[in-house]
Amino acid sequence: MSEKYTNDFRDKIDIHSNYDYSLLDWNESPSPSVPSVNDFISNRIKLLKLNLYPNVSKKGLVEKLQLFNETNKKILLYNGSDSFLKDLCMTFLSPGDTISVIGPTYTQIDPFISAMGSKKNLIVPDNIFEPKITEMSHRMTNSKVVYLSNPNNPTGVLYSNKDILKLASLFPETIFVVDEAYIEFSKNDSIIRENISDNIIVSRSFSKAFGFAGIRLGYIMTSDKCYYELEKINNPKSINTIAQEVGRFALSNINEVYGHVKEVVHNRDRLYNTLRDLGFDVYNSFGNFILLKIKNNIELVNYCESKGIILRDRSSFPKMEGFIRISIGSKSQIDDLVKILLEFQQ
Ligand SMILES: Cc1ncc(COP(=O)(O)O)c(C=O)c1O
Repeated sequence: MSEKYTNDFRDKIDIHSNYDYSLLDWNESPSPSVPSVNDFISNRIKLLKLNLYPNVSKKGLVEKLQLFNETNKKILLYNGSDSFLKDLCMTFLSPGDTISVIGPTYTQIDPFISAMGSKKNLIVPDNIFEPKITEMSHRMTNSKVVYLSNPNNPTGVLYSNKDILKLASLFPETIFVVDEAYIEFSKNDSIIRENISDNIIVSRSFSKAFGFAGIRLGYIMTSDKCYYELEKINNPKSINTIAQEVGRFALSNINEVYGHVKEVVHNRDRLYNTLRDLGFDVYNSFGNFILLKIKNNIELVNYCESKGIILRDRSSFPKMEGFIRISIGSKSQIDDLVKILLEFQQ
């Protein structure tokens, strides 16, 4: 299935507000973590001065994030954590430099690496479901930056914070990016709770656990040293007024966010157990998705698509032949999916 075809569904939803499709392809949340957000926005919008540029200091939001993360590290906000990846490459990479990426993983950084004329050194563990990252340290030498996603998308594995800290201490001149887009779904605390070294940048998102992918809000937490480098090219006007409002609103209702995360994790484990008990070859994750390995993967993705359920084929990733990623939808979306998968098997 081509990327373009997937996006056709999004155009239809956009134009007709038709949510009949079950979009289980991009690891979005089936609903916002705080359901009253729409009421909040409709009431608040009347008071907002949308003729003015957004608040460039974003102090209120930054302070709430420091409290939420129990950190006094510096915080920079981004228009989704993806746009941090662009600034990261522009700031720390030059033509000919090497960035090591522990994979198979999220590939949004690739175009930014190419644009800088830098080289991607993809490090794939022997067993992608039992990666031993400290044993791969010799493959990270001469890297300006090391990027990893923890928990990792799409394998769903969780690296230990201890191992990441060890790697960062082995290469003090290398910037270590820990993309924690899915950390709230995992059993680990964020690495920000540890005594992190100055060469670590922790990236976070409002798109997954918070369920606000549409507002485009992400942030990083890091040392003064990395912060001031990144700040040089950061456009302070890039976080729009509504995203700032929703960000503060979500953090003021953090218990609802935790409740939402608990429900997604429960639904994830339920889907995994159900499919496993039915004889499917499934892999659970520490994120908001699971993996299904099947011989006729393309046929299955197309079959589900014909039934209005959109999944993500990941078989082009290294060592992932036959793998399909399934985002955790609502209870009824999961029940429908299980029915369709059984139909396909018959
Ligand atoms: C590992 C990882 N990081 C970041 C993102 C994107 O985050 P954002 O929506 O904040 O740009 C994704 C989205 O799928 C992801 O898988």
